[in-house]
Amino acid sequence: MTDQPQLPEGDIPGKPTAASRTTLSHIMTGSDTNLLGTVHGGVIMKLVDDAAGAVAGRHSGGPAVTASMDEMVFLEPVRVGDLVHVKAQVNWTGRSSMEVGVRVLAERWNESTPATQVGSAYLVFAAVDADGKPRRVPPVVPETERDRRRYQEAQIRRTHRLARRRAIKELRDKRAAEGLDAEG
Ligand SMILES: CC(C)(COP(=O)(O)OP(=O)(O)OC[C@H]1O[C@@H](n2cnc3c(N)ncnc32)[C@H](O)[C@@H]1OP(=O)(O)O)[C@@H](O)C(=O)NCCC(=O)NCCS
Repeated sequence: MTDQPQLPEGDIPGKPTAASRTTLSHIMTGSDTNLLGTVHGGVIMKLVDDAAGAVAGRHSGGPAVTASMDEMVFLEPVRVGDLVHVKAQVNWTGRSSMEVGVRVLAERWNESTPATQVGSAYLVFAAVDADGKPRRVPPVVPETERDRRRYQEAQIRRTHRLARRRAIKELRDKRAAEGLDAEG
């Protein structure tokens, strides 16, 4: 694994980060609340998945499905009457997968105070063909220092995801071989 952006390979030219960067905005209403009266985390997560999905589809030029969502962080409660902005961009690309980074900001819908960050998340999308099988994606081409930092951080997360998955599989295989996890 390298720590530099991949060069375009084969017949798929690279695409700059800015080409698919997207913001989805939504005013929170009474139907978005939880039992405490603030906005339900699941409502925010859906907006995050929607924005990230749009970015993944735009970058890959076709259908893309959510493979994982991790590090969903809620920093501040979101309230009814907040105008929420969900900003998403492709941080990193592999062969068929893309990591999309998302920042969630909120401001009062009728006030001119600046928006504050209320959450963030990282999602992995896989581009799929008509049969739902993974297909190759254009390499993302980070253009700014911030994009390059995000690319490098995404590679660290990718390495950790793969290592964690491998370690858990090895543990499960070992326990299964020892007959420790038989259905009871
Ligand atoms: C995501 C999916 C297409 C992966 O299919 P697969 O047969 O396992 O294919 P692969 O193992 O080749 O994985 C494809 C890519 O996704 C990545 N990937 C797969 N599962 C992943 C996970 N849980 N986390 C992070 N990345 C993942 C792989 O690393 C690979 O990346 P690369 O090609 O850039 O190296 C498949 O599991 C799927 O269709 N899942 C359901 C998706 C869906 O319906 N989402 C909406 C949920 S309601």
